[in-house]
Amino acid sequence: MTLEYRDLREWLKKVEGLDELQHCRGVHWDKEMGAFVEMCVRAKGGRAPAFLFDEIPGYPPGYRCLYGLLNSPKRFAFSMGLPATGDERTMELLKIYRQRVQAITPIPPKTVPGGPILENVLKDDQIDLFKFPAPIHHELDGGRYIGTADAVITRDPDSGWVNVGTYRMQLFERDLTGIYITEGKDGHLQLQKYLAVGKPGPMVAVVGQDPALFSAARATLNRGQSELDYVGGLRGEPLEVIEGELTGLPIPAQAEIALEGEVVPGQKRLEGPFGEWPGYYAGGTKEESVFRVKRVYHRNDPILTCAASFKPPHAHLFERCFIRSATLWDNLEKANVPNVVGVWIHEAGAGRTFNVVAIKVSYFGHSRQAGILATQLAPTAYGGKWTVVVDDDIDPSNLSEVVWAMGTRCDPASSIEIIRKNWSSKIDPVNMTENYYNSRAMIDATIPFENRGRAAKVAVTSPELRQQMLAKYGALFRRVLGEHDLA
Ligand SMILES: Cc1cc2nc3c(=O)[nH]c(=O)nc-3n(C[C@H](O)[C@H](O)[C@H](O)COP(=O)(O)O)c2cc1C
Repeated sequence: MTLEYRDLREWLKKVEGLDELQHCRGVHWDKEMGAFVEMCVRAKGGRAPAFLFDEIPGYPPGYRCLYGLLNSPKRFAFSMGLPATGDERTMELLKIYRQRVQAITPIPPKTVPGGPILENVLKDDQIDLFKFPAPIHHELDGGRYIGTADAVITRDPDSGWVNVGTYRMQLFERDLTGIYITEGKDGHLQLQKYLAVGKPGPMVAVVGQDPALFSAARATLNRGQSELDYVGGLRGEPLEVIEGELTGLPIPAQAEIALEGEVVPGQKRLEGPFGEWPGYYAGGTKEESVFRVKRVYHRNDPILTCAASFKPPHAHLFERCFIRSATLWDNLEKANVPNVVGVWIHEAGAGRTFNVVAIKVSYFGHSRQAGILATQLAPTAYGGKWTVVVDDDIDPSNLSEVVWAMGTRCDPASSIEIIRKNWSSKIDPVNMTENYYNSRAMIDATIPFENRGRAAKVAVTSPELRQQMLAKYGALFRRVLGEHDLA
């Protein structure tokens, strides 16, 4: 096994040992947990701990909610099985993460007869989803959400391919939730195959899960690839699953809480508003599909995993940028774009809307090729807005360097391309219509290829002079800068 935890409980113990877990007692599910997490993360950004809420008013002790699973370099590295480098420089950690996920050989899950998830099995009339402390995360949310940091499992009726995605679920009734999946996402395409012919869509929602599964559920894998096999590869051993009693869908045996049932054909219900990933309640209240829950499986003292998407920064943004940047970089290479040296999907762009690709410009048209493809490849194909291409001397994760490149290497009249009618959704606060398109701007902030060699020199201390200075004044630099900033 290549991860140091088998389930969420082992993970919690280890993360506590890393001093990365904050216990919080007595905080209410009604807006208070969300506000608490937001206020802490707004102050500390991607350095905040994970928050485990217990003794939630109205609920038995032990019925817990967990926020911010992966939202720090230390937790992210530990959870993904990365070497503990202690190196917090974004591009370095991203390269290590990419190597790790590129080396994954998918391992299919193993069906086992039982597991902790079967400690409690509730059927039909016994079901009451309000037994879990599902929060109202943001002040203007339209209700309680039982599924936010979840893993929704569906199966393609034609090929049998099992998909897992993180999709929000509003809690409506004791056995009924909403399910919002953006049109075009894999879960949507799969479920539509059932619903379009009037059949119920079998579904399992794991609403208490470990970080390895969460990282896979929210990643955009290639169509046809199962996130469960990917998790097996990440773990270095198969994920143990039980077979859902009604749907036959695989349910992780060590999960905290899983809901099994069907998306109901021909039935919709008003859903939202909800604080969404761009940091607004833009989606409003609209009709969405509903999920009838027929079985609830949960461990004793279950933990509901939660994610609240406030205006950036929020408690699941740090890892969002890593996972997405790595995928975009891979997809650019798969699309044959050479000499990509860095990619960063910025936190300030809510992890989708402001994306930077750094390349070593190697031929005429190279920067446009990289930039325009980056507007359309997963994961920025959905919801992307600004793509900036920079030269290889610019750190794409450093906003100050990116803005400097835009300000000094760009000629706005000739460096910007606009692409219209792209994949978007109701969540875009700019679009007030029901036509869910957006437009994209590709900003080429590289030095034009024809100007190589005669472009103005950058006024910065050369590597040679830097070395001489460090050799001569090392002690003085150390006093002023400290070891970390000197590296
Ligand atoms: C916390 C969190 C909540 C999310 N909520 C939704 C959602 O409600 N609907 C949706 O379509 N995508 C949502 N996403 C994004 C999807 O999980 C993501 O696009 C994923 O790649 C979808 O899986 P798929 O590529 O298999 O469709 C969410 C992601 C995260 C991290």
